[in-house]
Amino acid sequence: MPKAIYPGSFDPITYGHIDVIKRARKLFSPLIVAVVENPRKTPLFSVEERRRLVEEALEEEGLEGIQVITYSGLLIECAKSLGVDAIVRGLRATSDFDYEFQLALTNRDLDNDIETVFLMTAGKYSFLSSSIVKEVARYGGDVSKFVPRCVERALREKYGVRPA
Ligand code: PNS
Repeated sequence: MPKAIYPGSFDPITYGHIDVIKRARKLFSPLIVAVVENPRKTPLFSVEERRRLVEEALEEEGLEGIQVITYSGLLIECAKSLGVDAIVRGLRATSDFDYEFQLALTNRDLDNDIETVFLMTAGKYSFLSSSIVKEVARYGGDVSKFVPRCVERALREKYGVRPA
């Protein structure tokens, strides 16, 4: 099966990301989840915290055999160094398209041999983003439907709020 990398900020990982991972692992082996060290935004969690949360979330969901790494620098360089055939990205709604289109075509210009493959996340997660989850958690809201328990705990610790 072709090899793929699933890159992202994962700040933090959500059920939307996990849904994409469940779909991608049926198509690619190995599927490597790659946590970017310096996302364009200022992350709430450090890269190490984000990597650890991805690993714990995958374990909580019973998703074994998925390698989790961190990277800094260009995604396409990371993909080349891993020798993957594809970059997997999740699409939620049309609002994602412009940015993903730019990322995919730029990466193709940088390396024509690595394709970007888009997977639609489940409809029930199409509104979900790490940003909105952090917003809800910051004010003590219930995020249990949006993220695994390990992430819920980490958000409470980070924001110092009592369980909802
Ligand atoms: O989860 P995100 O923030 O949508 O992931 C975006 C990410 C991390 C995949 C992208 O920003 C990235 O890989 N950045 C590293 C630098 C890079 O390669 N930028 C894209 C140039 S085309």
